[in-house]
Amino acid sequence: MRVLVVGGGGREHALVRKIKESPRVDYIACCPGNGGISYDAECFNVSATDIDGVVKLAKKIKADFVVVAPDDPLVMGMVDALNKEGFATFGPDSRAAIIEGSKVFSKNLMEKYNIPTAEYKVFSNPEDVIEYIKQKNEFPAVIKADGLALGKGVIIPENLDEAVAGVKEIMEDKIFGESGNNVVVEEFLTGPEVSVLAFTDGKTVKPMVSSMDHKRALNGDKGLNTGGMGTVSPNPYYTDDVAAECMEKIFIPTINAMNSEGRTFKGCLYFGLMITPKGPKVIEYNCRFGDPETQVVLPRLKTDIMDIFEAINNETLAELDIEWDSRAAACVIMASGGYPKSYPKGIEIKGLVNGQTDGVTVYHAGTALKDDKLVTSGGRVLGVTALGDDLQSALDKSYNAVKAIEFDGAHYRNDIGKKALAALKQVR
Ligand code: AMP
Ligand code: GLY
Repeated sequence: MRVLVVGGGGREHALVRKIKESPRVDYIACCPGNGGISYDAECFNVSATDIDGVVKLAKKIKADFVVVAPDDPLVMGMVDALNKEGFATFGPDSRAAIIEGSKVFSKNLMEKYNIPTAEYKVFSNPEDVIEYIKQKNEFPAVIKADGLALGKGVIIPENLDEAVAGVKEIMEDKIFGESGNNVVVEEFLTGPEVSVLAFTDGKTVKPMVSSMDHKRALNGDKGLNTGGMGTVSPNPYYTDDVAAECMEKIFIPTINAMNSEGRTFKGCLYFGLMITPKGPKVIEYNCRFGDPETQVVLPRLKTDIMDIFEAINNETLAELDIEWDSRAAACVIMASGGYPKSYPKGIEIKGLVNGQTDGVTVYHAGTALKDDKLVTSGGRVLGVTALGDDLQSALDKSYNAVKAIEFDGAHYRNDIGKKALAALKQVR
């Protein structure tokens, strides 16, 4: 098989690596890919949002299967365009991808089908939002831009002034463009967060092993929100009981709801959950693999991923057994100095040979090859990932490797997995 992966971050590197393990695959291309991915796949300089360009590339390389990984091309209809040209694909069409593309859609869906989530109200006018928040006078408040916003469209103001400033940025200054035409204001929930990625063909849903993201930039969950500074899998808060409850009250109802709406979802559906005192609730849906969740989930996948992708494409997922490695996984993100604000690019990365180092897997997120040297080219640069018999040993391996990798200004959190380790001690 000849496989094309669309995207160019750490998640796509993890997908490429897993696809490469399949004995059925003899050629992998990636667009645009990155410096590290180029050791594992042929990279083409076609943007992940260039639908015509990707269709042309798929034809040129005679792809048998195209995996569309990022949210924006999915929401824009890349899978629809590829299917129209007869390509087998992994990823939802645009009608289904709206589950991530519009928070107003997803909140209304959950309300209509009784899927547990935070109470909410939708607004299209900034004065009405402020009036509502003023009346309610409950802080923190939660305000979300309707559309895609690079994972940064959520603000959690602690007081009215912060709410006013945030609403102005989203709805008037339009820092996320059209995504800020409407906003959702919702109830602030508390409890540990769990990410569950699930394979679904629209008939069957098979959750993958759970994971925990670390979204804030700094130790102790301080600092700005980022795309994710590290992950661990499994997530100790996701007990068998919680999993059973999620299956019954969230996963199956969501798949059924999408079918009822004529928006059958095929691909990876990401459930961002909060385990509240009143049970698990949906914080967000994503229409794709999470980043950096994928970097700890896929290393634990034992089943041939192409068999899974094909079963989803053919709607025969029910017949496939999916097996997981019982070991734990940890991924520590090394980011550019300044990230998630502005940061320099083009800084040489030292300590890697062919993009890798012993004992771990280094997933490249923002790297490029310049004169045969690896340099930084993005905010999140590397995801240093290890498997271990337990979480502590996975973390030890990751952090040992991180210490041996260098680039000027590199920063990473020292406490990835700390909360999960504490939770494990409590359970014991
Ligand atoms: P999202 O982009 O929707 O995942 O939101 C980013 C982060 O904001 C989440 O991971 C949560 O930590 C937090 N968050 C979002 N919605 C809520 C909520 N209703 N209550 C509390 N925290 C929230
Ligand atoms: N790590 C969160 C996301 O992929 O949206």
